[in-house]
Amino acid sequence: MTQKRNILCIGAGYVGGPTMAVIAHKCPQYRVTVVDVNARRIGQWNSERLPIYEPGLDDLIRATRGKNLFFSTDIAGGIRDNDIIFVSVNTPTKSYGEGAGMAADLQFWEATARQILQYAESPKIVVEKSTLPVKTALALERILGNGGHEVRFDVLSNPEFMAEGSAIRDLEEPDRVLIGSRGTPGGLAARQTLVDLYAHWVPREKIVTSNIWSSELSKLVSNAFLAQRISSINAVSALCEATEADVSEVARAVGMDSRVGPKFLNASVGFGGSCFKKDILNLVYLCRRYGLEEVADYWEGVVRINNYQLARFTRTMLRAMFNTLTGKKICLLGFAFKANTGDTRESPAIYIARNLLAERAVVVVSDPQALANAAADLKDADGQVSFVADPYEATAGCHAVAVMTEWDLYRELDFERIFETMLKPAFIFDGRNVLDHRRCFEIGFNVYPIGKPPLTHFS
Ligand code: NAD
Ligand code: UGA
Repeated sequence: MTQKRNILCIGAGYVGGPTMAVIAHKCPQYRVTVVDVNARRIGQWNSERLPIYEPGLDDLIRATRGKNLFFSTDIAGGIRDNDIIFVSVNTPTKSYGEGAGMAADLQFWEATARQILQYAESPKIVVEKSTLPVKTALALERILGNGGHEVRFDVLSNPEFMAEGSAIRDLEEPDRVLIGSRGTPGGLAARQTLVDLYAHWVPREKIVTSNIWSSELSKLVSNAFLAQRISSINAVSALCEATEADVSEVARAVGMDSRVGPKFLNASVGFGGSCFKKDILNLVYLCRRYGLEEVADYWEGVVRINNYQLARFTRTMLRAMFNTLTGKKICLLGFAFKANTGDTRESPAIYIARNLLAERAVVVVSDPQALANAAADLKDADGQVSFVADPYEATAGCHAVAVMTEWDLYRELDFERIFETMLKPAFIFDGRNVLDHRRCFEIGFNVYPIGKPPLTHFS
């Protein structure tokens, strides 16, 4: 018989909200509370309009909120009343002092640790859900071990591997759940408690346990490997463009080798999102701190190629459009960092928009979910950027269209209609290789995919 447990999650963001919604749904006998310092965000979680867009999330929240899932700003009460505490606060790249631009900023994480210490009155299992530098659990244990009172704390590492846009599916059917612990009796007992929790819906063979440092490091390395695949294929896309090879054909041929596999080989304008870059830079910083310069250089190359790919995209636009973009109206189709999310953190579209604005182009942004975030990201570019939800309205009167996000709806647009309303010669730059390039070319567009020969009407 599983004992009924009270679970707290500190941090009601992209990870905390969906993760706890799935736990509440799968474990109706557990009571789950999510707290945050951001009262507005908690208000949104308690409203009909959730703070994030994620397919399937609304239904889950509707099914659990007010029953065994609660959102609150009462952090002290939450710590007091719950025995398993997940910490999923943000760990962005540090923007100041030593390690600026590379290391993880641990201020939110440490503030949380101190709050736990301050308010805990009974034994707690503290679970690292945030992505953290390897050895952070040691620092957490040191802070929690200094309370001068008798409360027992056991620290676990349980990194999250979900991706935005497919978060609910990833959480409901994870490839694996990783739980790192100390090898002490207390650590192993805490680990078993978390195994029991996940065992409510995750097959036992997919719940992997390890030592706590391996668990922390595995998360950084997982993201580094995924991003490395994208940078690899993006690097190849540049060579394809120079040689008339087709990157999709190359990716298919390479990915059919079962040792390589077909996923994460879509060449693109570059990867975005709040984590890949920050986690690789964190890994690079850690390697340098341990004196492993060659290892650091190797992983830093993944980010370098991504920056190169982003810069290359606007360079292609500039060259194709007769070396001047000044005053030209360019529509960005999509602003989210990937499809099926409204998240724009580190979105390639931000970089492309800024590069185009630097060339004095006029930018029109369209996106089905991310327009509010896009407006916040580009708020300093007043007057030069407009935000238009309807893609037909957004593209009308433009010189060029650049696809930034692989939303399904862009594949289904009526490009004949769009061509009619655009200035000629009309250009398409497909930063996601999602359009039917041959068809667009036949309509009259000059088409520039990633990693494929352009289709143009110029002799
Ligand atoms: P987020 O910014 O969306 O959410 C973090 C939340 O923590 C914010 O709402 C913030 O107000 C809150 N917070 C900060 N300090 C707090 C404190 N002291 N007390 C209470 N609340 C506090 O971040 P996120 O995208 O959910 O990411 C959280 C962590 O999970 C990061 O370490 C990230 O690397 C990792 N991660 C993210 C994803 C993803 O897809 N976004 C996936 C896997 C892992
Ligand atoms: C990524 C990982 O996939 C998750 O496992 C991890 O938990 C998460 O980071 C995290 O730690 O935050 P996420 O960033 O949400 O998830 O989304 P991805 O699907 O990984 O896409 C990241 C970026 O790479 C997007 O901009 C996407 O468009 C791009 N991408 C992805 C490509 O350019 N090509 C591909 O083949 C795949």
